[in-house]
Amino acid sequence: MASGLRKGLTSYGDAAFSLFLRKAFIKAKGYSDDALDRPIVGITDTSSDFNPCHGNVPQLIEAVKRGVMLAGGLPMAFPTISIHESFAYPTSMFLRNLMAMDTEEMIRAQPMDAVVLIGGCDKTLPAQVMAAASVDLPAIVLPTGPMVVGHYRGEVLGACTDCRRLWSQFRAGERSEGEMETVSARLAPSVGTCMVMGTASTMACLIEALGLSLPGSAAIPATHAERLRCAEATGRCAVQMARGGARPSELLNATAFRNALVVLQAIGGSTNGLIHLTAIARRLRQPIDLEAVDRIGREVPVLVDLKPSGEAYMEHFHQAGGMPRLLAELEGFIDLEARTVSGARLRDAARAAEPVRGQTVIRSRSDPVNPHGGLCVLRGNLAPRGAVIKQSAASARLMQHTGRAVVFDSLDDLDARIDDPDLDVDADDVLVLRHAGPKGAPGMPEAGYLPIPKKLAQRGIKDMVRVSDARMSGTAFGTIVLHVTPEAAVGGPLALVANGDRIRLDVAARQLELLVDDAELARREQRRAATPSPALPERGYARLFQQSVLQADEGCDFDFLVP
Ligand code: FES
Repeated sequence: MASGLRKGLTSYGDAAFSLFLRKAFIKAKGYSDDALDRPIVGITDTSSDFNPCHGNVPQLIEAVKRGVMLAGGLPMAFPTISIHESFAYPTSMFLRNLMAMDTEEMIRAQPMDAVVLIGGCDKTLPAQVMAAASVDLPAIVLPTGPMVVGHYRGEVLGACTDCRRLWSQFRAGERSEGEMETVSARLAPSVGTCMVMGTASTMACLIEALGLSLPGSAAIPATHAERLRCAEATGRCAVQMARGGARPSELLNATAFRNALVVLQAIGGSTNGLIHLTAIARRLRQPIDLEAVDRIGREVPVLVDLKPSGEAYMEHFHQAGGMPRLLAELEGFIDLEARTVSGARLRDAARAAEPVRGQTVIRSRSDPVNPHGGLCVLRGNLAPRGAVIKQSAASARLMQHTGRAVVFDSLDDLDARIDDPDLDVDADDVLVLRHAGPKGAPGMPEAGYLPIPKKLAQRGIKDMVRVSDARMSGTAFGTIVLHVTPEAAVGGPLALVANGDRIRLDVAARQLELLVDDAELARREQRRAATPSPALPERGYARLFQQSVLQADEGCDFDFLVP
């Protein structure tokens, strides 16, 4: 099989000429024949002025290149799409599959024997691993790493759990505009990804558990010298992989995905992690069974004490021993014989975990943060194909609750009415948001954390049951039911809820029920089915997205990208 520069020659009908031409062009950059004969390691460059979470990518690329060259390979960085959560319209999820397609095709199109995937901000690592799974070229992930924490008047701050907490306090009149100005400069005090157990940190941990990155790489802060040494080691490892390392399809088997689900529960990980893991697994024909996710959650405790489920931040997780220490604590739940990119087993990483006396961030199984895992899967007539709740970030008093539905038909409706002083709402009601799913919004925005109506927030109400077909930022907290599937836009029962209906949430029984009789629901469904669907977008990616995106339980991938 062709390797290095001879791979995937551009078609001119004469392979020797194609190679000659390729060499002639690349020599314009001053490469020697010796360099061009080395194993080629591609490196994704996801730096962008719009993506501060990737602000250290240029330094990381330099360090990866050093590692590649020390090991005798030729590093070749190439640009791909970069997505930042706050700079992606309409949502970053809308663009994840586009990034996956871009990354897949650029890996396929250019001659490389292995690839280093440098990413971090929420949707980037999932997109990159989905791409690598489809190309099935040896691939190693290098996360950009978490930001360090910020401080304000003696309080430790982190993006973006504290962004939400402080904003809620501002809405309730407890913080002034001046204070909010000051904290906006302290919440994200360095480059790197959000430093709580949000989606970025969750995905970095899951990827380490899947064996796709080097031990410890999930948690080393973005600004530490150790992150650069990790990058150098990643480059070295990539050369070893280019000479015959494992392909994603050889590493990402059923055991690897089960290990990742155990870690997802034990870290109190983001609900988004489940959607992304599902999308990655389906690229390799490995289904993720929601019932198995729930079973694992009943057995595996939350051991990592990080916001939003706990108290600490990613740099403390790193100081406490990071993923290797967690893997050691999870022995028995996790299969430590699973192989990793370097050829070592997870057991080797767990054995080498640094003992950190007195640390309280990674708990032992006898002293968990929560005796059960972070995520529960709910079923019921309101969510026939499932919904999820992050119980580790929810209020204990609301885990079993029946309330009156207050329905918002869209994000615009929510925006227009949530703070209306005349809104008929009380603290025991259930706030419902629909048409915010994969097709409905579109792009399944992180709008599931519906704000507490201002008049209730001012009365000191901090949490209410909220139900939607949207997602939620992994950094958010509350009694929030998400990913109701099927979504309202494709005729899911959420579309049938009316103001004043009663909804019952019973987390222990894993139930989400709309307490309306079947005959009435059938009448409402007849009326809904007779209403014409909105027209497809006229052109371009928006049209492709609307035609092809799958539901949350299928990972929100495009139907034509799943084998
Ligand atoms: Fe990039 Fe949070 S905004 S990781």
